[in-house]
Amino acid sequence: MDNNKPIGIFDSGIGGTSIWKEIHHLLPNEKTIYLADSKNAPYGQKSKEEIIALSMKNTDLLLEMNCKLIVVACNTATTNAIWELRAKYDVPFIGIEPAIKPAANQSLTQTIGILATQGTLNSELFNKTIEKYQNTKIIEQVGHGLVQLIENGKINSTEMTELLRSYLTPMIEANIDYLVLGCSHYPYLIPQIKKMLPKHIQIIDSGEAVARQTQTLLKEKIGFTTAQNSESVFYTNTDPSVLQSILGNGYSIERKDF
Ligand code: DGL
Repeated sequence: MDNNKPIGIFDSGIGGTSIWKEIHHLLPNEKTIYLADSKNAPYGQKSKEEIIALSMKNTDLLLEMNCKLIVVACNTATTNAIWELRAKYDVPFIGIEPAIKPAANQSLTQTIGILATQGTLNSELFNKTIEKYQNTKIIEQVGHGLVQLIENGKINSTEMTELLRSYLTPMIEANIDYLVLGCSHYPYLIPQIKKMLPKHIQIIDSGEAVARQTQTLLKEKIGFTTAQNSESVFYTNTDPSVLQSILGNGYSIERKDF
């Protein structure tokens, strides 16, 4: 039965596991297959054509593995390739986009910050979204270097602290009261970011919203699994040690060429 097939999830690397965690938390019985395309990270500096081609490669593999729906757990891939993916494949897709809407709607200073990749901030989809919030000042910052440091296991390094400080200080000075994390790798930086931001600034990411959307899509169109024991399988095309360290023990991680 279709509803017992796995949910496929992909990202340019290990960051999308922040989305997988939310999905697994909300839907613990669902089987998931996660592809970490770390070999090709970061996607954020690639052309739209390259991002589309990589997203299709990941989708093809997840479909070979018989997935019932695909979560694009990468803002860069979603904002550059989701239209093309939906046009090419019949399988339903859920994408992840920066949570501009809740931040803009709740901001009291009418000034919000967004930290995301160049690919996301340059995309047509993102720029169409922000057109709707003309009354909010949006301070955009490309998180140059952050994804590479996370992929290399340097979440708690001095380099990371220095980069984050240089990206966040101008936003604090501009009086933001919401910081949108527009890249699925960045939730792993929340403990450090919290130490740098004044207490009144809220941090928003899209993980929970994506998990809720996944739940709704299963409920309304595809069906929940009837299995009682979920299985979470992770594939990476580079050294699995960093993925292993952020997931902890007890998960099946396999190295695979893709
Ligand atoms: N995790 C990704 C995102 O959400 C992409 C990072 C990258 O590969 O540049 O945008």
